[in-house]
Formats: sequence, C-alpha cells, structure tokens
Amino acid sequence: MLRGSVCVVIAKSTHHDRIVAPSLLAADFSKIGDEVRRAEAAGADWMHLDVMDGHFVDNISFGPAVVDTVNRSSPIFLDVHLMISRPDHFLQRFIDAGADLITVHVEADHDVAETLGRIRAAGLQAGLALNPATPIAAVEPFLGEIDLLLCMTVVPGFGGQAFMPEVLEKISAAAALRSEAGHSFHIEVDGGIDAGTAARCGSAGANVMVAGSSTFRAADMAAAIAAIRSA
Ligand code: DX5
Ligand code: ZN
Repeated sequence: MLRGSVCVVIAKSTHHDRIVAPSLLAADFSKIGDEVRRAEAAGADWMHLDVMDGHFVDNISFGPAVVDTVNRSSPIFLDVHLMISRPDHFLQRFIDAGADLITVHVEADHDVAETLGRIRAAGLQAGLALNPATPIAAVEPFLGEIDLLLCMTVVPGFGGQAFMPEVLEKISAAAALRSEAGHSFHIEVDGGIDAGTAARCGSAGANVMVAGSSTFRAADMAAAIAAIRSA
C-alpha cells in the first residue's frame, strides 16, 4: 500500500425503498374518498388506480372523473395504471385529473416512445407495463425513457386472481437489465400480491407492490400493509 495513498470508493447503488400501493379496484366504491383516506392512514405510500376500458382488458373500471375525485380526496401520490387500448388518446385527461405517475401498456395501440415522452413532458413520472405473456424484450427499447416498469403478475382485468410465479424470472431479468445499463427505474408488480408473494417479488428485484384484495379487504389494513412492506 503506497504511504499516504487515498483509497476512494465510489459506491453507485440504485437504492429502491419498498413502496406499498393499494389498488382502488378493491375498495368500496360507495365511499371512495373515505377509502383513500383509510388507506393513507393505514400506511399506504401510493394509491394505485386501475383504469380499464373494456377493450384492452375484458372489464371496465373507472376513468378520469374518479382519478379527479381521488385527487381531491387526499394528497397521496397517484399511480395511474392505464389498461386501455388508446392511452395516447386519453392521456391529457388523466394528466389534468391529477395523476402523479401514469403507466401505459407496451401491448396497447400507440407509439410507446411518444406517449412516454408526453407523460414526462407534462412533469409526471412515466411507467411502462407488460403482461405476463409479453417477453422482457418488448420493453427493452424503452428502459431509458421510464421511471417505472410494471411487470403484471396476473392477466389484467380483475382483482382477486392468483399470483403467477412464472413472472419472477422476468422481474429478475428486468433488474439485471436495469443495473447493466445504469438505469434507476422502479420495478412494480401488480396482481395477487400479499406478504408472501411480495417477499418473492422483492427478492427478484421488485420494490413497488400493488395490492388490492390483500389490503382493502383485510381485517386490519395497517397490519396488511406493514406485512407487505417488511416481507
Ligand atoms: C389487474 C388489476 C389487479 C389489481 C390488484 O387487472 O391491476 O391486479 O390491481 O388486484 P389484487 O391485488 O386483488 O390481485
Ligand atoms: Zn394495476
């Protein structure tokens, strides 16, 4: 060791804290404002809003009006998941409704790069989602343009479905691509997430846990959120 030499270690870690995002899809729609405040009081970091158009997925949930209602109910961070065929066509309405982050599907019928650019140009965070059957290669061209990658762990359309463990491999691949390229996007999972599956997804590299049934339908929502956070 040279005398007087200085050893400088530059640690580059893309640290990703665990984020718990209850999905409004599982809430009691007769009292949406109260449900959002209940989730916030129970320790939710984000509110995940599952928008479905009955075309991209075989179900219809809610649109910009509900996002606006949620936005007026609480200051909580709004993580809007557009399971719709034409996210480009409706984008501005969700921006105006108060979304903080908008996630669009790579499989939808739009110019993905252009839509992601418009989301960021509006000052929001941009997310890209892929369904269980979609290979990670489909999103590789866009990994430098996103703040979040959503790996669906169920076929989108309905809450309460069983977690699909085959997606774990894709989550690991996404985390590897992220570190190889020096990106720092969040990796989010959505569908069948509870403390058990959150632990498996966390080990694979996911840090944002979307949970509907296991939080809003829990006897003790705060305990359910805490269990997902520490899993
Ligand atoms: C997929 C939806 C659901 C929802 C979560 O269409 O996005 O995954 O958020 O549902 P749970 O947590 O009940 O599986
Ligand atoms: Zn979702």
